[in-house]
Amino acid sequence: MRVTQILGIDPAFPHPETIEIAATVLRDGKLVAFPTETVYGLGANARSEAAVRGIFEAKGRPSNNPLIVHVAQIADAIALTAQWPEMATKLATAFWPGPLTLVLPSNRSVSDMVTAGGTTVAIRMPAHPVARALLQATRLPIAAPSANRSGQLSPTRAEHVIRDLQGRIDLILDAGPTPEGIESTVVDLSSDRPRLLRPGSLVAGTIEAIIGPLERVGVEERPSELKSPGMLSQHYAPRTPLYLVSKEMRELTSNLPEKIGVVWIGRFDWPHDSRKIEVVELSEDPIDYARRLYDELHRLDQMNLKMILVLHPPEREEWLAIRDRLSRASHRDAGIEAKSQILLKNTDL
Ligand code: TXA
Ligand code: MG
Repeated sequence: MRVTQILGIDPAFPHPETIEIAATVLRDGKLVAFPTETVYGLGANARSEAAVRGIFEAKGRPSNNPLIVHVAQIADAIALTAQWPEMATKLATAFWPGPLTLVLPSNRSVSDMVTAGGTTVAIRMPAHPVARALLQATRLPIAAPSANRSGQLSPTRAEHVIRDLQGRIDLILDAGPTPEGIESTVVDLSSDRPRLLRPGSLVAGTIEAIIGPLERVGVEERPSELKSPGMLSQHYAPRTPLYLVSKEMRELTSNLPEKIGVVWIGRFDWPHDSRKIEVVELSEDPIDYARRLYDELHRLDQMNLKMILVLHPPEREEWLAIRDRLSRASHRDAGIEAKSQILLKNTDL
């Protein structure tokens, strides 16, 4: 049990005194949740085995799932690697600070717990002013996974972190909602051909415009078949069962036995009993959609709904990361046809 201090901080102009408090907590080997432009991270000194172990304990994260190391500048990233290929310079120059994580050969200067004993290290330079100020103040490599219990939805607000991790970490910096709302894109540069390991906030096509095609083995396959150690099933999932549905599933929302959530793109104007449905209408623009998605799922997850139905996102490239997260969050054990039958006929699902 830890005592969790919570400090408010301005997202655009973080107060130096608050940053110094957080930097001291990190230097002491303790755990600080802080905002990044994507989601809140749970940070610890990446050079300290004990500090990093604290992250795994607080999250209940399996030790075979490596962490992303956050740095203040490109030189600090290079200092963690055994090789820094030309492509890394190109991508770091084009997209850092920003929501891109690069996997590179490690020189083992961070704790083995960070890399899960592997030969590579994942690195990113975040853009959020609070994250940048914190990294500049400590000048430490900061290991930080998303600040949620393992397997749960990533946090886009301090409230989400508090709900999951209060009493398990030392400090939370509350800077309000994170601007992008979906995790960074992970690109592996450790072998001959660059690979997209996790689609994310930075659209893959934008990266390909700089370095050419990314191998996409594993992306949008079933999680159990994915190669990246972190791509375990039941990632990013709310506690309420979530199902992806198509526009044709209108019969699903009539005759509802109990209240359900519906997450739609654009207007949800089907005939329905509004008392039985909590409707969330999200933007047709994937950037706006991503910004709100986790926040709305967190909110729906607090409402004791029977299930959450989410309209299947478009097939276009800009929706790839959203499709990836939603398919991981969804129940895929049976066809939705079967589910709709259950939903309509069985009240004690
Ligand atoms: O936007 C983000 O990336 C956020 C913020 C806090 O930076 N962090 C985040 O961390 O999403 P996490 O731990 O929730 O996800 C990191 C992903 C996992 O899928 C992990 O397996 C993968 O990156 N990863 C980390 N190190 C790796 C490595 N050396 N090789 C391959 N995959 C790695
Ligand atoms: Mg995570």
